[in-house]
Amino acid sequence: MELDEAIKGRRSIRKYEKGAVIPKEDVEAMIEAATWAPSGLNAQPWRFILVTQRELIAEMAQAVFDKFQELSKRAYEAGEKRVAAFCRFMRSHGGFFGEAPAVIVACTERYDLSPFGLDEYTVTAKVKELGGPSLEALLIHIVEKSVVMAVQNLLLKAHELGYGACVMDAPLVIEDELRQMLDIPEEQQLVMVIPLGVPAQKPRPPKRVPVSEVIRYI
Ligand SMILES: Cc1cc2nc3c(=O)[nH]c(=O)nc-3n(C[C@H](O)[C@H](O)[C@H](O)COP(=O)(O)O)c2cc1C
Repeated sequence: MELDEAIKGRRSIRKYEKGAVIPKEDVEAMIEAATWAPSGLNAQPWRFILVTQRELIAEMAQAVFDKFQELSKRAYEAGEKRVAAFCRFMRSHGGFFGEAPAVIVACTERYDLSPFGLDEYTVTAKVKELGGPSLEALLIHIVEKSVVMAVQNLLLKAHELGYGACVMDAPLVIEDELRQMLDIPEEQQLVMVIPLGVPAQKPRPPKRVPVSEVIRYI
């Protein structure tokens, strides 16, 4: 597939053919593409959980829907109608994936600074104690940034192989429940939830802001 077709033809897909099974080698090809992303200090701080148990996927999606439903109700009762409307929208924006044949959860792994005999939190704190700048952007957020880059590769590979996916963060509203359901250790952060399947829709590309509006020359 041509690079431009991959970049511009990829869409967020939210409806999937029923009963489709995604072969393990296809999923592994997507994860392999992800692992070729750049990462800070080549730390490769990404981990991917592949969920294919249908009941578990349905349970995850329902829990997201229920959480936004509950938040919407609470906001409405508090007279916060706009917040309530937002949460009502988020029920389906976050909970539509109950029938996806697979869900990939992208997580971070701790940043390995062991060659220096330190961990990232100690370095950050010590540099601050020394009157230095915050190193959070470099040492703490680096893992999330790297995972996000990997996820884009994964989405492009899924598209090339004929699958449809949707990168999501709305499910993080039930982060604690997801951790329990998927047995995710505390030191890993959840970054994205990515339902995946054979597309059962062909959405029109959402409009893009023109290049002239997103660039500033110096
Ligand atoms: C950080 C991030 C979070 C997103 N979260 C959601 C989400 O929770 N639910 C959803 O349906 N789409 C989600 N999306 C998909 C966007 O809605 C989608 O990428 C955007 O509308 C552009 O459409 P396209 O991906 O087809 O080009 C998310 C995308 C990004 C980058």
